[in-house]
Amino acid sequence: MSARLVMIEGGDGSGKSTLVHNLAEALKKEGQEVVTTREPGGSPKAEEIRRLILQRETGDNFSPDAEMLLFYATRMQHLFDTVVPALKRGEMVICDRFEVSTFAYQIHARSGNEPLFAKLHQEVVRLLKPLNVHCVYAHCDIDPEIAAKRVMSAGRLLPDVFDAREQAFHEKVREGYKVASQHLDTMFEHVVLDASKTPEEVLAEARNKLNL
Ligand code: TYD
Repeated sequence: MSARLVMIEGGDGSGKSTLVHNLAEALKKEGQEVVTTREPGGSPKAEEIRRLILQRETGDNFSPDAEMLLFYATRMQHLFDTVVPALKRGEMVICDRFEVSTFAYQIHARSGNEPLFAKLHQEVVRLLKPLNVHCVYAHCDIDPEIAAKRVMSAGRLLPDVFDAREQAFHEKVREGYKVASQHLDTMFEHVVLDASKTPEEVLAEARNKLNL
């Protein structure tokens, strides 16, 4: 299998991280070289910026543009340290969240600065396009109410400022994921997965739709 960037996207509680884990395990068992990583974060320096972004007290947030620039700062570091080197080695990278999260959360749900997003997105395209690798994101689509119940039953109680936002916000995030492809370069393919199913069913659907 040649180098490929697979981005697993979705709202909080959509089961993305479980899918990243299950997908990587299944592929490794079959002898494939797979690197799993996450955003925000994904390398020691990128994780430093993650801590800066996520550990804010409610009411003490960065300005919308500053927040988006911080997401791109950690993303650029992650691309530099982890993603681009692995793709150059010919490996598959499976990433828990990537740019589509910025579109869904900062732009669509929070009415962020779309021209700024478009410019920053072009910088990511400029880094990835020359590598000539298949880039695809899978949207783990689920009703936010079901997702919230999952988060509660797993005992994950409002770990950061993002999870504390209301239902309406999560509905907007879901909608953002649905329209995101219209705002991204055509080099990014996408598939939609029914994340209300069991982890095994979501894994099977992902392997089928991603041709993995
Ligand atoms: P994390 O603990 O990784 O959440 P999850 O387990 O749901 O992935 O926290 C990441 C939070 O950051 C999550 O609520 C989504 C948000 N986020 C953005 O708002 N914009 C972004 O570009 C990214 C990558 C994440």
